[in-house]
Amino acid sequence: MTNIKATNITWHEGHVNRQEREKLLDQKGALIWMTGLSGSGKSTIAYTLEHALVQRGHLCYVLDGDNIRHGLNKNLGFSAEDRTENIRRIGEVGKLFVDAGLITITAFISPYRADRAIAGQTVGEDSYFEVFCDAPLAVCEERDPKGLYKKARAGEIKGFTGIDDPYEAPEKPELVIDTSKMSPQEATIALVEMLEKAGKISALGE
Ligand code: ADX
Repeated sequence: MTNIKATNITWHEGHVNRQEREKLLDQKGALIWMTGLSGSGKSTIAYTLEHALVQRGHLCYVLDGDNIRHGLNKNLGFSAEDRTENIRRIGEVGKLFVDAGLITITAFISPYRADRAIAGQTVGEDSYFEVFCDAPLAVCEERDPKGLYKKARAGEIKGFTGIDDPYEAPEKPELVIDTSKMSPQEATIALVEMLEKAGKISALGE
């Protein structure tokens, strides 16, 4: 549980609400939560989707694990507690971005079901789309874009997800993308359809 230290604080209501911002942007705020092993393609798909949506005139933003760990979350490591805090903060940032009306795409391993569930509750189930990048470990390890699996196998990195740290696959994801079989472009088409069906963006020509 998060230790609450802030006292004597008051919530201020603004004069502009989410609906007005969404009208301005002609889209509905959403959080697309990509989860999966390192090397499963989360970031590649997230940035491909962002590009496709921006080309269609939508305002998007990607929150990427490696990038966020250079700034906001640079004081967190990879223990279970730190990963939980990593995901808690992203759930909260996601909530703000969704309230701003943005289509927000996150790319974090987010290995624990309970942490992802909290992110979903924070943002609200209508705005939260869990997407499982489901590439087999052998494929991720073969790709090894950052050479980290090799280091983990050699014992140079301890507690690496999939090697000597757990990954809990989603039980009811909105979408499963097996990136060993599907290209980032094909995945993007499926994700755009998902957003259209959910009424977050309108279909082309509408
Ligand atoms: S999470 O588990 O807390 O969600 P996050 O997505 O932010 O992880 O960061 C994962 C990235 O950190 C990996 O893609 C990899 O580049 C790097 N990394 C460094 N150490 C580890 C580790 N022990 N386990 C997993 N990823 C690690």
